[in-house]
Amino acid sequence: MNKRVLFSTFIILFAVQSFSQQNIPELLMAKNGNTITSVKQWEKIRRPEIQALVETEMYGKVPGELKISEINLLDQDDQALNGKAIRKQIKLTFRGNQKELSVELLMYLPKGKKSYPTFLGYNFGGNHTVYKDTAIHIAKEWNGAARPRGVETANWEVERLINAGCGVATMYYWDIAPDKEDFSFGIYPLLYTQEQKAPAENEWGSLAAWAWGLSRALDYLKTDKQVDGNKVIVIGHSRLGKAALWAGARDQRFAAIISNNSGCGGASIYREKAGETLLKMNNRFPRWTAKNFKKYTENEASLPFDQHMVLAMVAPRPLYVASASEDAWADPKNEYKSALLATEVYKLYGLKGIDSPVFPALNTPVGATVSYHIRNGKHDILAYDWDEYIAFAKKYIPTSY
Ligand code: GCU
Repeated sequence: MNKRVLFSTFIILFAVQSFSQQNIPELLMAKNGNTITSVKQWEKIRRPEIQALVETEMYGKVPGELKISEINLLDQDDQALNGKAIRKQIKLTFRGNQKELSVELLMYLPKGKKSYPTFLGYNFGGNHTVYKDTAIHIAKEWNGAARPRGVETANWEVERLINAGCGVATMYYWDIAPDKEDFSFGIYPLLYTQEQKAPAENEWGSLAAWAWGLSRALDYLKTDKQVDGNKVIVIGHSRLGKAALWAGARDQRFAAIISNNSGCGGASIYREKAGETLLKMNNRFPRWTAKNFKKYTENEASLPFDQHMVLAMVAPRPLYVASASEDAWADPKNEYKSALLATEVYKLYGLKGIDSPVFPALNTPVGATVSYHIRNGKHDILAYDWDEYIAFAKKYIPTSY
């Protein structure tokens, strides 16, 4: 054995040992103590166990079924982006408990293509912030104000996506559920039982509500003949990356999942996490998770799961986890570790993911069906990230189903 091989063997052994010292719950051990060794056992036993656990203990259950009641095409322009794209604005309406909620989905689709990937994700400030197209309806914030047009242009790269032959669909996340400690508006009241004022202990926090909204958008996209409903990638940055991850983990219809700088409550392992800890997240954003989750605050060691299990629920579909070098708050090392551990399940499917415990160099994507990169710079989603996601989608999403 040469020195190099010896050294890397040592690093791997060291890393594996240090993970087990952290007491990260075993991905491939069922509740009854049996080891999971096949895809069948994973899909029939372990994945449902993990889903039930993570759902009741962290994100919270969706309290009932609610389908889209009405779809309205508000706007369509077949000559958008100088004739290269189709723009559509669709209103999705939900009804329940004599209440109504409407959400607008903005789409840009490449022209003249039959089958192409479409990236679906929430925006932070309203659809009109993602691109400087004056036809996009202005979204009002909860206090009646509106952000300037196009302020999220650099985060959406609409032209880059269309030029690469991809579609993009986006909604304003507040339209589904408020990002404040107030459960009296958004989707929640449509599903309350009589007299209910807030979700119960094991019911959804806002991450689960946003994830639910992404699945409803997918319901619509699957009916749109101009979209390839089998190639919808769910994507999100930061808190919206947490939501995208949970949406993709629960809803097997998403073709691929991209978590950009999702950090705590997203891709990052909670145990020994740097930056934002569970305590910090739960104190500042109690609304994000079910009330049940608060019992783990400052007690990560007692968590019966960790976030690699949420990533593993995505298998065998393509999964991309990305970090940024100046985003210590999200903790890139723990995001990477999570992708590395989740790869165990991909291996059951005979797929490759992250196979080295050695943290990669800056701006150097690693992996395969599970991929990872750390971009140089701040907590953000930028052109570099999009270029990698586009290449990833083209490489790993199957061309036919
Ligand atoms: C805060 C929060 C993070 C979150 C981020 C964001 O920093 O602590 O968990 O990801 O906001 O959504 O931008």
